[in-house]
Amino acid sequence: MKVLIRAEQPGDDEDISEVHIRAFGRTAEAAVVESLRGQGALLASLVALVRDRIVGHVALSPVEISDSPRAAVALGPLAVDPEHQGRGIGGMLVDAFLQHCRVRDEGLVVVLGYPDYYSRFGFTPAERLGLHYRDAGVAFQALEVRPGAADGLSGEVRYHPAFELA
Ligand SMILES: CC(C)(COP(=O)(O)OP(=O)(O)OC[C@H]1O[C@@H](n2cnc3c(N)ncnc32)[C@H](O)[C@@H]1OP(=O)(O)O)[C@@H](O)C(=O)NCCC(=O)NCCS
Repeated sequence: MKVLIRAEQPGDDEDISEVHIRAFGRTAEAAVVESLRGQGALLASLVALVRDRIVGHVALSPVEISDSPRAAVALGPLAVDPEHQGRGIGGMLVDAFLQHCRVRDEGLVVVLGYPDYYSRFGFTPAERLGLHYRDAGVAFQALEVRPGAADGLSGEVRYHPAFELA
């Protein structure tokens, strides 16, 4: 199975929403992506294609840490169409996302999700870096893409308001 990862292009938006709706079984995550896009806060948007069909997507958006704007970026929502899960596509999207962060010179990435899944990419509980998100606990994770990027940062992380839709 050949998988292509590329940046979102004009006209991809409906297919991206459909992937999130199918993967999460609800519309909330698709609404977050649409809202980020509409507000110019979808800083990067990567899709996975199999036979020219979008089967996966991951979004990159800004977060604030204790009033420091753009101190870090958020990974997510991340989704792979159920028919294509378990074949490494989610992993390819996360790897491409992290590579994209290095190219953009982003230092710190946070994610809200399953620790068992994200730990394989090097994410660890963000609380070890002194970073917190509401009552998310260990589900809130962070990765220093640039070593030392979290130095001097601590406190509550704020996602873009679009995430209130989730
Ligand atoms: C999570 C998700 C993106 C993974 O995509 P994928 O293409 O299936 O992932 P990969 O094929 O790269 O990796 C599969 C591995 O992830 C593991 N995995 C999948 N969902 C997991 C979960 N909820 N918790 C822990 N591990 C999980 C699988 O067990 C598998 O492990 P293995 O490699 O040891 O066999 C996909 O399952 C999905 O879209 N889920 C629904 C939406 C969602 O929950 N998004 C993530 C929010 S944090």
